[in-house]
Order: sequence, then C-alpha cells, then structure tokens
Amino acid sequence: MVFETRRTLEQGLADVMKVIGMISGTSFDAIEAVAVDFSLTDRVIEAALLGHVSVPYSDELRDRVAQVLPPHATTIEEVCKLDTLIGQSFADVAVSLADQHCDGIVDVVCSHGQTVYHWVHDGHALGTLQIGQGAWIAERTEATVVCDVRSRDVAAGGHGAPLVSLLDVLLLGQNPPNVRGALNLGGISNITVVGPSREPIAFDIGPANALMDAAVMWLSDGSEHYDRDGERAARGVVDETFLARLLDDPYYAAPAPKSTGKEHFHREYLLEKLSSLDIGRDDLLATLADLTARTVASAVREYGVTELFVSGGGTRNAHLMRLIGGYLSGVSVSLVDELGVPEAAKEAALFALIGFLTVHGIAGSVASCTGARRASILGTIIPGRQPTVVVAERDEPTRIILRSSLSTEVESV
Ligand SMILES: Nc1ncnc2c1ncn2[C@@H]1O[C@H](COP(=O)(O)OP(=O)(O)OP(=O)(O)O)[C@@H](O)[C@H]1O
Ligand SMILES: [Mg+2]
Repeated sequence: MVFETRRTLEQGLADVMKVIGMISGTSFDAIEAVAVDFSLTDRVIEAALLGHVSVPYSDELRDRVAQVLPPHATTIEEVCKLDTLIGQSFADVAVSLADQHCDGIVDVVCSHGQTVYHWVHDGHALGTLQIGQGAWIAERTEATVVCDVRSRDVAAGGHGAPLVSLLDVLLLGQNPPNVRGALNLGGISNITVVGPSREPIAFDIGPANALMDAAVMWLSDGSEHYDRDGERAARGVVDETFLARLLDDPYYAAPAPKSTGKEHFHREYLLEKLSSLDIGRDDLLATLADLTARTVASAVREYGVTELFVSGGGTRNAHLMRLIGGYLSGVSVSLVDELGVPEAAKEAALFALIGFLTVHGIAGSVASCTGARRASILGTIIPGRQPTVVVAERDEPTRIILRSSLSTEVESV
C-alpha cells in the first residue's frame, strides 16, 4: 500500500515529499527536529536535510517530565496534561521548521514524542508509552502526522527499539565486506551491527548518559544537568568496588535483542548501588563514564566490529570518547557525520524516514534488530489537510543517500 496526500497524487509526485521528523530522547533535554526532502527512485531513497533544530524543553516542562518518570508515582491527570503540553511544544517546533525551510508546507510530520514508560518483563517488551499528542501537530501544520511509532513493533513481538537500526542498516549497507557498527550515546547506549553474510542486529547496551546525568543532577541539587565535556570524570579516579557493583547488573549479560531505559537506570538505582560506599564526586563520575565505555567496548568486541560510527550527545563528552577510543584500539572510530548525517540530527532524521515510509506503506522496522516476528509499517496516522489515499504497493528501499550541509541550530523556547 502507498498512502499519499491528494496534492502529491494530482501532481504525480508520489515519491517526493517534504517531511519533518522529531524526537525528544530519554534524556528529555531537547526536541530534535529535522526537515527533509525525500525522493524514492526504484529502491534508493535520496534525502536532503534542509534544516535541523535542537530546542530545549522549558525548565518547567523538563521538571514535570522528570516527575512522571519511574520510579516516581504520577496521576492520569498529569499524564494527560503533559501529553497536551508536549504535543503543543512539538507543534511549535514543527511550524517554525516548516516556515524556515519548507515555505510553511510539509507533507508529513513524524513525531516520536517523549517516552515516559518502556515496559520490559523477562527480557520481552510488553508495552511502550510515548506522549506528546500528535493532533496538536496536525492542527497547526495541517500535515499528515505519524506518531506512536514503537507500539506496532512491540505488538509484533519486538522491543520497539532500537528503531534507529533501520537508518543504520541503510547507511552502513546490508552486506558490507567488513563488520560495521553504528553506536548511539544518548541516555542509553545502543548499537547496530551489520556484516558480511549475517543478519543485522541491534540492541540497547546499557546506560550512556543516564547514570552520569542522574549523578550530576543529584550532586548539584538539580542546578546542573550533565558533566560538561566530561570534565568532572576526567579529574576523577575509577572506584573499582563501585564499578564491580554496577557491572554486576544481569542486563549486560542478557542476550540480544534487548532494550532498556530510564525505568531501570535511574537516580534511585544509582543511590542503591552506591549504598554505604564513600566516593568523591569526581570519582563517581569517572566510574560511571568508565562503565559506559567498558560496556560499549565489550559489545563492539563481542560482535567483531572493525569500523564504528558514533552519534548522540555522549560524543560531546570528550572524556567518554577518549575512554571508548582507548578500549577499542584497532577499531576505526569516527562520527556518523562521515556517512552524511550530522550526529546531532541523526535520530530526528530517522523519524522523518519512518514518516516517509509509513505514508508509502513500507515497513519501518528491521525484524532481526528489534526481535519482532516481522517488519511492520510503523505508527498511528493522523490525517492532515488532505485525505490519506491508498494507491499502490512498493518494495522496501535498500539504500539511502543523505545530503546535508547543515549546522545544528540551538533555539530556546
Ligand atoms: N558538551 C557535552 N558534554 C558532556 N555531555 C553532553 C554534552 N552535550 C550533551 N551531552 C550529553 O548528551 C545527553 C543528550 O544526548 P542525546 O540528546 O543524544 O540523548 P537522548 O535525548 O537521551 O536521546 P536518545 O535516547 O533518543 O538517544 C545529555 O543529557 C548529556 O548527558
Ligand atoms: Mg536528547
């Protein structure tokens, strides 16, 4: 099936679309959004990145999101209110991006929204909840909106994560001559691995910034959010007892595919692991950075990756990147920018791609990566200014060519 807007049908431009992709990740630091001009010819997608913005949540919204996340208790009233407030914030960003880069008109907006709960039990994902009501985005932009992108993969037996494996596989190649990996260092670290004669795999490795951020917020009473450039960690010394306690978590040894989140790696988890240990502030950060670097390196080594492309906010933590490089001697480590997409724009570009595929009736998940029974067309579609029309069936793409001359714009709300 292919879904198109009537405008594109009449003009015969079925495979050319302007799409906005948006996400606020597990760190709930900012709404990342890109505008992309897509075209699909045969089985090759060409994607020109027209603009990227990173718009921090307001302090009030950020605090309210923090308060609904596990292990806090919340109310349905607060979830409903946040669903609206986040949806409206995403709508503001979409409108501004559309005005700046698309003459005010986009065909599709795909919004990941904000994950508030990812339900994993006995190694299986049973549910996942992203909020940020898409109707507000449809109302403001008049575009077809795709949201709730993880649930279908979960219903098909998958983890609904890491969805970025779709873009990774297209960027890295499905059957490259060497084993290549794409690593994302967000709140959680995740990796996609492709190689000769093997099915691609992907999984969440463990905490990337989640525990480091929790430690900084705890130590600073909420006035600081992260260890800028890893400066604290660089001054500290690893506490081997604490590190051993952290590494003792059974999540690391569990088989892939697997997913995790801040339901598991949060401040109370950190405080429980710390119990009775007396560790200096910088040493605490040094140990947490080492935990991330070691678990990442162990995943990279386990799958024999020789070429690694890294993205996510953790790439801006110079100390963490030095550690990872140190543990991975012999592995080529570079930013994903080498593959044509600026690291900060990668996740939003993924959701733009999912939106484009969904309205064309093409699956947006990679079953071997999420652990699903089959690949699914992702998301819930909210009609925009034009009715959504089914027109034809398409083969899934096998390649993506990304063009970008972007620098990231950071805006304040
Ligand atoms: N200059 C910096 N120095 C150190 N850490 C940084 C810096 N800039 C960003 N970060 C870290 O990156 C995090 C945000 O990264 P990112 O946006 O990739 O993660 P995310 O929102 O959790 O996304 P996702 O879960 O979707 O991967 C911040 O919370 C912070 O810990
Ligand atoms: Mg983020």
